[in-house]
Amino acid sequence: MRVIILGSAAGGGVPQWNCGCANCVAARSRGANRTQSSVAVSADGERWILLNASPDLRTQLAAHRELWPCGPRGSPVAAVILTDAEIDHTLGLLLMRESVTALPVYAPAGVTALLGAEWPLYRMLAAYAGVEPRALADGRPIALTDASGTPLGICCSTSALARRPPRYARAAAAAPFDVGLRLTDERTGGTLAYVPTTGAVDDAVRRVATGADLLLFDGTFWSDDELRMASVDAPTAREMGHLPVGGSGGSLELLASLRAKHTVLVHLNNTNPLLRAGSPERARVEAAGIVVGADAMEFEL
Ligand code: MLT
Ligand code: MN
Ligand code: ZN
Repeated sequence: MRVIILGSAAGGGVPQWNCGCANCVAARSRGANRTQSSVAVSADGERWILLNASPDLRTQLAAHRELWPCGPRGSPVAAVILTDAEIDHTLGLLLMRESVTALPVYAPAGVTALLGAEWPLYRMLAAYAGVEPRALADGRPIALTDASGTPLGICCSTSALARRPPRYARAAAAAPFDVGLRLTDERTGGTLAYVPTTGAVDDAVRRVATGADLLLFDGTFWSDDELRMASVDAPTAREMGHLPVGGSGGSLELLASLRAKHTVLVHLNNTNPLLRAGSPERARVEAAGIVVGADAMEFEL
């Protein structure tokens, strides 16, 4: 299975349009951008599955030859999996409205419900080629297929994570709003665990991540009060449902217990000191053998 990190940043990207934090200022002056969270995977190198659909999708698809059309119309993007219904993981669906066929979109029930109602992407896209919603049920592995039903060579199991609904739908009825994924290449046996948003390293995370060849894990914030340093009214990392990497009880203390062969942090917020190459926080993560993810990083599993 080939894995490409299309975008390594959390919502807002780096630099974020209205942010004057040190990281955003540095990113503007160096032209060093990070696009918003998404990953592409493929078992055959020809048909690709997007893990989340980023607001920066257009730039991301243009940046990778593998994702360019191979004929006058069409795309190597064969399916999408959504792990949550946040704007930074779903807005990209609107950017694929020129599709000539309905795009298969795998998602947990809570996400499918939000995208038909509070954030009505599916209803809007129905006026274009539309999407074909496909259910991801907890714990039941499924063989992913393209629009014609042909297997993509990758099996997916999910684990519902304890997170609240997105900010635009605080009152939504209880349902899985966030899942972690475990993707297995049916030929090589290579396993990818994808957990870009989680408030804990708990049994739900262990179910998908334990022993994976590659774990792409929530690196949104280094510290709980990181956003407060930029804006006093901001929520904490834990209030937003993101376990910080540093500090007591942070993921840095817990990730080794998952025994993944390689662990890479993704969905990094622009305020995170891990973005600075020489920072002490970055040195601690690297000393633990954990990699700070970046756009265009590639892996073969
Ligand atoms: C999240 O990951 O917590 C959300 O995407 C936050 C947001 O941008 O609204
Ligand atoms: Mn997000
Ligand atoms: Zn910033």
